Amino acid sequence: MSDAFTREPPWNPRLFPPAYRTPRAVQTARNLLDPQGYGHSLRRRFGPVFSLRMFPYRSALVCATDAATNREVLTDHERFPGGDASAGLAAVVGAGSLICTPPPVHLRHRKLLLPPFHGRQVTRWTEGVRELVRAELPDLLADGPKPVRPWAQRLTLDVILRVVLGLTDPARTAEFRQALNAFVGMGNFPVLFLPRPLRRDFGPFSPGGRFHRRRAAARDLILEEIVARRAAPDRAERDDVLSMLLDARDEHGVGLSDEQVLDELMGLVLAGHETTAASIAWTLHLLAHHPTVRDDLIADLDAGSDRLLKAVIKESGRLRPAVYGSLRTAAYDTELGGHPVPGHAFVAALFPLTHHDPELWPKPDAFRPERHLGADDAVPYSLTPFGGGVRRCIGVSLAQLEVETVLRETLAAAVPEEAGPPESTRLMAVILVPTRGGRVRLRRRRPHRADR
Ligand code: HEM
Repeated sequence: MSDAFTREPPWNPRLFPPAYRTPRAVQTARNLLDPQGYGHSLRRRFGPVFSLRMFPYRSALVCATDAATNREVLTDHERFPGGDASAGLAAVVGAGSLICTPPPVHLRHRKLLLPPFHGRQVTRWTEGVRELVRAELPDLLADGPKPVRPWAQRLTLDVILRVVLGLTDPARTAEFRQALNAFVGMGNFPVLFLPRPLRRDFGPFSPGGRFHRRRAAARDLILEEIVARRAAPDRAERDDVLSMLLDARDEHGVGLSDEQVLDELMGLVLAGHETTAASIAWTLHLLAHHPTVRDDLIADLDAGSDRLLKAVIKESGRLRPAVYGSLRTAAYDTELGGHPVPGHAFVAALFPLTHHDPELWPKPDAFRPERHLGADDAVPYSLTPFGGGVRRCIGVSLAQLEVETVLRETLAAAVPEEAGPPESTRLMAVILVPTRGGRVRLRRRRPHRADR
């Protein structure tokens, strides 16, 4: 465990916001199996700020669940700095990734990473993303009901390999796909929660051994690509993130080392792949279960408008945000929502709960994209699927491009219909996924472009 865990203050009900007395193991299990339902019950019982006593936290996770406390946690960087709280992920992405770096290093790296993700830059990837979606679409459209998530996981990894790493050669892409799938797959994450001695490499069949081998294989492959790209004569003309990152310089003219670039790339794979896949799965699943919204969206897209498309994606991100919350630590003894919070405690802004606050969102359980069609008068920090403040997701525009492209291409070819009951959420690390992968049945509208 990271230093943040060793500094975590011990549990003391007088020094933390209120919590259930249920044993930690039970709270952990309930939260993993039904994060939204369990969070709601805590909020009903204790109000918008409470403590969730669950592993891996020794004491508790302090949770903020309304717009005011969400804003405090996301934007008061002095009181609630980020980076340390996610340092447990350094075993996966490397300690130099933006995800795990505390200020002030975080800000320096973020400035170097932002330019390739600016909206205008991202539109240059539109054609590349569309090509990838069209190449994969026949699999999604194949007969029979199916979960969308596994399909979307393949697609979003391929998008990262193309636009972040700049891979175009099919054999090389396949090699990366295999190594990254083996390593960054969620199945590897439980090893991070084992006590440190058990995480050691006890041979190829031990969990620690498997983890270290897969990690080394994925990192070696990416490092090879970094070294080759540094020497590539056409680097300046390329529009992938890796090429741009190698030439990025801060105000002192200093760039990133190969090792730092490697950590950042691992971070981008981790942050950008499962999140976007979950969003795609949720959106198609929600459309299948809301035929009126679905038919209106198809009619709007057929008429050449994207107004409803953007509203549908916003509403899907409200009702089923892909990420459970943003994690910070308290820099010192403080308070939140009128409750004490001890220094070094872990603090989270929990988006699914803020997004379901009935005072912010009337009939919060209903899927109603029309809420987002009027003037943009939502209460600030009432809708934050991408987090906020200086750590807000840097991949927002790319994620939106991916989800929009999948919806445009899929709905031009097929109508998503129910394939079972509406699915609830399950927590995988910090990602909220549909319990059965977001099952849908896709009824063909007309032969798809790729089939003609
Ligand atoms: C629908 C898809 C996505 C969702 C819902 C999402 C959501 C989030 C959230 C909630 C955070 C934490 C923000 C905070 O701590 O306040 C985050 C951070 C981040 N995301 Fe995304 N993300 C998505 C896609 C992507 C993509 C496609 C990329 C890039 C390829 C990406 C890269 C990152 C990075 C690097 C961070 C760390 C930012 C920092 O600490 O400064 N994300 N994302």
